[in-house]
Amino acid sequence: MPPDLIEAALQSARQVGTPVWLYDAGPIRARVEQLRFFDCVRYAQKANSNTHILRLLRGLGVMVDAVSLGEIERALRAGYQPGTAAQEIVFTADIIDAATLRRVVELGIPVNCGSPDMLQQVGAAHPGHPVWLRINPGFGHGHSRKTNTGGPSSKHGIWHDELEACVRLIDEHGLHLVGLHMHIGSGVDYQHLHRVCDSMVDAVRRTNRPIEAISAGGGLSVPYRAGEPEIDTQEYFAAWDKARREAEAITGTRLRLELEPGRFLVANAGLLVAEVRAVKQVANNHFVMIDAGFNDLARPALYGSHHDICFVTPRGEPVSGPVGPTAVAGPLCESGDVFTQADGGFVDFRDLPLPQVGDFAILRDAGAYGASMSSNYNSRPLAPEMLRDGDTLRLIRRRQTIDELLALEA
Ligand code: LLP
Repeated sequence: MPPDLIEAALQSARQVGTPVWLYDAGPIRARVEQLRFFDCVRYAQKANSNTHILRLLRGLGVMVDAVSLGEIERALRAGYQPGTAAQEIVFTADIIDAATLRRVVELGIPVNCGSPDMLQQVGAAHPGHPVWLRINPGFGHGHSRKTNTGGPSSKHGIWHDELEACVRLIDEHGLHLVGLHMHIGSGVDYQHLHRVCDSMVDAVRRTNRPIEAISAGGGLSVPYRAGEPEIDTQEYFAAWDKARREAEAITGTRLRLELEPGRFLVANAGLLVAEVRAVKQVANNHFVMIDAGFNDLARPALYGSHHDICFVTPRGEPVSGPVGPTAVAGPLCESGDVFTQADGGFVDFRDLPLPQVGDFAILRDAGAYGASMSSNYNSRPLAPEMLRDGDTLRLIRRRQTIDELLALEA
């Protein structure tokens, strides 16, 4: 890890205590640049919805996706303009509740519909409203079964056989069809890329209505372990650009090609910094106990996801020495509150050098689905977030207080 990033991690810990999230603006900018081929990059803010991150991305020309009323309000707070010709905000979900429906109609936010009922409800509320159709092409893929969003076991999207029925609903309600969208999962590989592109072209043909855009969804994978390959964004674009041209040959119009990444933009730009509070020997293994838990970073406990972990001393020196089988665990009263898990689940021991109490643990590549998935389990407050941009380091969310936690029950 670069020494200046370790220094920023320690400075964050000194300033606001631990656990603390630290994001680095540089790698986020670099990721946006890697996607410059696409007409529109629409950030799936569920990955990291801090309004300061949203503002940074908006400044780089990135549009935004929202999946809840809260995410719509976050996008507005960050300066995104609703209902403009640029369609800066799109609402994507499988259902829409009454309050959200009122808000998208009021603001003119296009709605990407993931169920025929949702389409029907938008049409009944506001004939002429701009809509997208999110289609489940019948297959999917993900880094975990839980992040696969296509195929017959997925609740997401409109089943491909329902497409013609949805087009009839659009006609009946006089809805304005903006485009077609497919997102088959998170952590997607090249193997499924060409298949989903072919499905999109087929869907455009069957829709047989004028559209403005197609969306490739998100899902681009990022390396979490040393040596894992980076996705080739040019190759990714080439496959979708070919699909776009085939679709344009069908519609006879120019189509905007959108991409909707979350993880790709922010995962590698974030760290979770925690303090080592206990080091225990258990049989032949060690447990390093830190003050962050799965209430902070849920991915290992939820999916068996891997995050590289390193230990540094309070002076910023990497902890070295002999390595031995070590698990890194949190403070929660749950046996699964362990950050070192084998693929698909439960405690795994990694060869790590042994830190001392008072050293820091840095969990890497935690910028996506880290803070945004945190909870208050065990009545632990949400951790603060810091943003480094060049030489500046600033607090972009303070730590929640226990009073704030209890206030809802007043
Ligand atoms: N578009 C749609 C409609 C989605 O449902 C998602 C993610 C994305 C885009 C962005 O996917 P990404 O580019 O980030 O892979 N919590 C899991 C990931 C869940 C993804 C949910 N949907 C994790 O930590 O890996």
